[in-house]
Amino acid sequence: MINEKMAQALNKQINAELYSAYLYLSMASYFESVNLPGFANWMRAKTQEELMHAMKIYDFVNEGGGRVLLKAIEQPQSEWESPLATFEAVCKHEQKVTGLINELVNLAIEAKDHTTNVFLQWFVNEQVEEEKSAGDIVGRLKLIEGSPQALYIVDKEMAQRVFIPPQPAEGN
Ligand SMILES: [Fe+2]
Ligand SMILES: [Fe+2]
Repeated sequence: MINEKMAQALNKQINAELYSAYLYLSMASYFESVNLPGFANWMRAKTQEELMHAMKIYDFVNEGGGRVLLKAIEQPQSEWESPLATFEAVCKHEQKVTGLINELVNLAIEAKDHTTNVFLQWFVNEQVEEEKSAGDIVGRLKLIEGSPQALYIVDKEMAQRVFIPPQPAEGN
């Protein structure tokens, strides 16, 4: 059984994941508006991943006997200066989320809540991946700064990203 304080903190994280989805959908819309459909596709896939994160926590709270309570989702920014500025914002946002996940782990450890701690480890690892992938794209965009031709090619590559829904565990 998840304690009340932990359930509240997890509820806040559901909101943070939904906000992430909202932010990336806003970035997708920005990329559509500047004719970069590959970048938009990348952001749409990322939106679905964030929704999946929110649902993962939703299920965990429910299964642990907690109550999911949804709060308002903050309005995301809608314009960015460039693809580079957008991905720098992704990096900054993911670093913030990593901080939130770490705080949740601290809370679980304090409460000696091993179940929640183990559950959160998936997110700890996920954040390493997310910070790396956003950081790699920032690096590439810096490399090609000022070259619309190169940006066009990167956009084609960004079109390759697909969201793979999580597979149900064996036996389910
Ligand atoms: Fe997430
Ligand atoms: Fe994320």
